[in-house]
Amino acid sequence: SRIAVLASGRGSNLAALLAARERGDLPVDFVLVASDKAGAGALRLAEAANIPTLALDPRSYPDRRAFDHDLFARLAASGAEWLVLAGFMRILDGEALTPWIGRMINIHPSLLPKYRGLHTHRRALEANDREHGASVHFVTAELDGGPVIAQARLSIEAGDDEQQLAQRLLPLEHRLLPAVLGLLVSQRLQWHEHAPLFDGQPL
Ligand code: GRF
Repeated sequence: SRIAVLASGRGSNLAALLAARERGDLPVDFVLVASDKAGAGALRLAEAANIPTLALDPRSYPDRRAFDHDLFARLAASGAEWLVLAGFMRILDGEALTPWIGRMINIHPSLLPKYRGLHTHRRALEANDREHGASVHFVTAELDGGPVIAQARLSIEAGDDEQQLAQRLLPLEHRLLPAVLGLLVSQRLQWHEHAPLFDGQPL
C-alpha cells in the first residue's frame, strides 16, 4: 500500500510509522511526506529515510482553496492510496478532501468528541478531566469531527501540567497510529459514515 503523510511539525508520529515499517510491522511504502512548513522536522526525517518530500508554502497561494487544491493534486500525483495526517496543523478544504474520504486518517491528541481543535491538553486539565488520550479518526470536512476509529487513554494525575500530559500521551500516539494504519491497509478496517467497520461490523 502506498502512503503519503502530511505533517507540520517535528514528526515524531511519522518516526513511529517509519519505525513500524522497519520492524516489519507495517507493510506499506511511504511515497511522499508533505508539509506546509519548509522547516518541519518531519521533512528532515523523510529525507533521511529517502522518502520524497514536498513543502508547500500557503503564503504563496491566493487563498486556502488554491493551496488545498494544489496539495491534493500533488498527493494524488504521488500515487498515494492512503493519506495520514500526523500533526498536520491546517484546516483542509471540504471540497478538496472529499475524494479522499475513507482513505485519510488523522491523529488528534484528545478523547474525541472532546476537544476538537487546539490546546487539547490544557482544556482537559481545565475541565478537571480524570482521563485524557488520543484518537485516530477518518477525516471528513468537519474539523476533528470524522468517525473515530481507535483511542488510547491515560489517567490524569494530580499535579499534571500541560507539558507532562503531552509527553506521557506521545508514546501512546506512537503505538496507536501505526496500529490503525496497519488495520486500514490490511482492509480489516473500513470507512463508514456513522461508525467505521471492523471485520465488516460497526465498531
Ligand atoms: C501530536 O500530538 C498529534 O496528535 C498532534 O500534533 C502532535 C504532532 O507531533 N496533532 P509530531 O509532529 O508527530 O511529533
